[in-house]
Amino acid sequence: MLAGYVYGGGILAVVLAVVVVTLPPPATAAPVAECDPGVANTNVTGNSAFDRNLGLLAAALAANASAAGAPGFAVRTAGAAPDQVYALALCRGDVNASACRACVAAAFVDAKSVCPGGISLYEDACLIRFTGQSFMDFLRPDKWQVSQMTWIPSQASGIVKVPEVGWFNAAVAKILAALVEHAWATTTGNNSTTTIKYFATGEESFNPKIYGFAQCVPAMSPEQCKECLRSLHDNAKNVYMGNSLRWVGVYSVWCRLMYSVRPFYGGRATLQLSPPPPPAVETPVEAGAGKKKSAAGVAAGLACSVLVLLILAVFAFVRFKRRTKAVEADHPLKKITRAQCMIFDLPTLQEATENFSENNKLGEGGFGSVYKGVLSDGQEVAVKKLLGTGGHGLDQLHNEVLLLAELQHKNLVRLHGFCLHQGETLLVYEYIKNGSLDNLLFGEMH
Ligand SMILES: *[C@@H]1O[C@H](CO)[C@@H](O)[C@H](O)[C@H]1NC(C)=O
Ligand SMILES: *[C@@H]1O[C@H](CO)[C@@H](O)[C@H](O)[C@H]1NC(C)=O
Repeated sequence: MLAGYVYGGGILAVVLAVVVVTLPPPATAAPVAECDPGVANTNVTGNSAFDRNLGLLAAALAANASAAGAPGFAVRTAGAAPDQVYALALCRGDVNASACRACVAAAFVDAKSVCPGGISLYEDACLIRFTGQSFMDFLRPDKWQVSQMTWIPSQASGIVKVPEVGWFNAAVAKILAALVEHAWATTTGNNSTTTIKYFATGEESFNPKIYGFAQCVPAMSPEQCKECLRSLHDNAKNVYMGNSLRWVGVYSVWCRLMYSVRPFYGGRATLQLSPPPPPAVETPVEAGAGKKKSAAGVAAGLACSVLVLLILAVFAFVRFKRRTKAVEADHPLKKITRAQCMIFDLPTLQEATENFSENNKLGEGGFGSVYKGVLSDGQEVAVKKLLGTGGHGLDQLHNEVLLLAELQHKNLVRLHGFCLHQGETLLVYEYIKNGSLDNLLFGEMH
């Protein structure tokens, strides 16, 4: 499949050829190639001087990139204009010298047969680029434009079984982001003579386990490496989000980023990651949903904090009124009722529940009745009318909020707000359709 992507950015806009390749898992991945857009159509085939220079370069690069002390990376040029050839080779950071040499040599053979005039080619263990134009200048600060990087995402056809796609995506995002942030800042010596720059491998203990690597061309500045990898990650998101793909690799000649659910690099990963927390569960209350109870969502946490603040405000208000008007300090709830409803006013809830009609009653328990309601914006809610309109109201509210803080933490049911009116305490919850809300609303508080 071949698709054209247009990047905005005025005159800098470039059309990038994006090849999404359906491939078997990476251990046996076929090389991914991108013909050099500038020379793909020029007639260089049969240009013997160019070919001869290219042959010299291929041999030299394979030797140089795998030479003792080389960081698996080499850049060379051969010949003179108009037949001058420029080339680059970079082996994956974990690949040993003999495998690096073999990969680079094979990549040049493959490359010449695909795009004889210039190409970026990505093998499993290395990448090469050759072209008739100088390209290392691109890294000069005045030339560097991350938006002009060409990139090629490739994705596996296989869908892997995951507990939940959203969660899997979060796990993939986590490992890729960690790899990006680690790689650009990393220089490691894998033995006494070789220094590997801008290379990171990672392993995340998800189910399935996720492996990944990120690497940049060592001639880049740390800033360029960071921009390059972040840009690749942004592009990779378009591919992996909403899917559970076995692997996704995003490549540019300047940097590479990839994850797979199979191990594909040698050695122990430099990054060991724990899985992200499970995402917030939409309809969390389900019979026997023991696992889901451990889910903790950001929304739930927020709602909880808001609640705590509200409760503090209620108590502060009560104390304030007590102190300022000691005469009326017979009964705290009375003071609160003056403030009308804290979030929902009573008419709103009366309207929502058809004035707490029997038809809307979802059930009744030791602590009050619960009614189904529909707010004016169409949102369905469950309104719990706490029993006891006397002085226990505030204590009940307090208990209920403590309970809910606990429940919110477990991400079970969301409290939208509450209403205090004329000694009545009403709590407004998210309405959960499958009806097993009863246990929560009618169950014991402690
Ligand atoms: C690179 O390879 C060429 C040809 O094999 C050799 O002459 C040169 O010394 C090598 N350079 C390095 C830095 O290894
Ligand atoms: C280099 O790596 C390849 C592939 O992982 C392996 O087969 C080979 O034995 C290694 N060679 C050396 C000298 O370690």
